[in-house]
Amino acid sequence: MNDASNTQRPRPAEAEPVPVTPTGGSVIPLRSAVQPVSPTVIAVTSGKGGVGKTNVSVNLAVALGLRGARVLAIDADLGLANMDIVMGVAPVHTVADLVKSDASIDEVLIGAGDNVWLLPGASGQYDLAQMTDDERRGLFTSVDSLDERFDAIVVDTGAGIGSNAIGFAAAAKDIVLVVTPEPTSVADAYGMLKVLCTRCAVRRVRVLANMVGSAAEGEQVYRRLLGLAERFLAIGLDYLGAIPRDPAVARSVMRGEPVVRAYPRCPAALALTEVADTLARADRRDEREGAMRLFWRRLLRQRGE
Ligand SMILES: Nc1ncnc2c1ncn2[C@@H]1O[C@H](COP(=O)(O)OP(=O)(O)OP(=O)(O)O)[C@@H](O)[C@H]1O
Ligand SMILES: [Mg+2]
Repeated sequence: MNDASNTQRPRPAEAEPVPVTPTGGSVIPLRSAVQPVSPTVIAVTSGKGGVGKTNVSVNLAVALGLRGARVLAIDADLGLANMDIVMGVAPVHTVADLVKSDASIDEVLIGAGDNVWLLPGASGQYDLAQMTDDERRGLFTSVDSLDERFDAIVVDTGAGIGSNAIGFAAAAKDIVLVVTPEPTSVADAYGMLKVLCTRCAVRRVRVLANMVGSAAEGEQVYRRLLGLAERFLAIGLDYLGAIPRDPAVARSVMRGEPVVRAYPRCPAALALTEVADTLARADRRDEREGAMRLFWRRLLRQRGE
């Protein structure tokens, strides 16, 4: 992890503000990216825990950021928030400070480099489903301004069919369901699909196979889930691709640097970058308008589901 005394650990008053112009800290000037980056709201979720959601979320965010998009990464895994560790930053405030109105959004957001800013999660400290109406309104007001300041948001939702993971996933435009070849992961992914479909009226989900031994194994995982979904659920599945099992992922976490930045030529980083490009291409600009606002509205409307 990076040295905690470096500039990535600002004191509250010095928290890195999100630039309102494309010039602030961008390694690639916004809109000069080789291809149009599509702003969108992407929620990364899974049935089973430990399948790679946090690494996928962080690296998708950084890959989009490296393409020139201004990206907000939201750590919504309220059980075990750890996007900050994978990014190698040490937040001073968390989303809990926003909810309690102790801090402004600019104090809470922390710059993670490459056009990416993190809204750090508050492990176990608050549960969206249990927030009061006033707290929900406060949170919404705080994040409302972000609509114009970012091109994309990537949400690490946490695992399982607990209310937070489901709520965050269901509110997003794009849902990425991470699944590994393990039978338990596939079974739990199916359980997650079932809840998304029957309880939240979600109609499409993108399946991302992680830690695969080969491209064929990734496709096999997808086909297994597709077979079940077609038989039993009214939900469409798109195959987003596969990330190989790669020791560079763990090495990058030890270094406190996302793998697409630490080892950009390793197999996992190449695959993650391709997935980010696919998501960017798939998103249409006309769908973007108000996407983030809509996300928060839906999210804050949910009550203890
Ligand atoms: N493609 C990969 N190749 C090798 N190891 C990986 C890969 N993806 C993730 N890992 C490793 O798997 C472990 C779990 O990853 P991660 O923390 O991202 O999962 P998670 O789904 O967010 O877990 P949790 O449900 O606990 O939040 C980590 O040790 C990570 O380094
Ligand atoms: Mg995680």
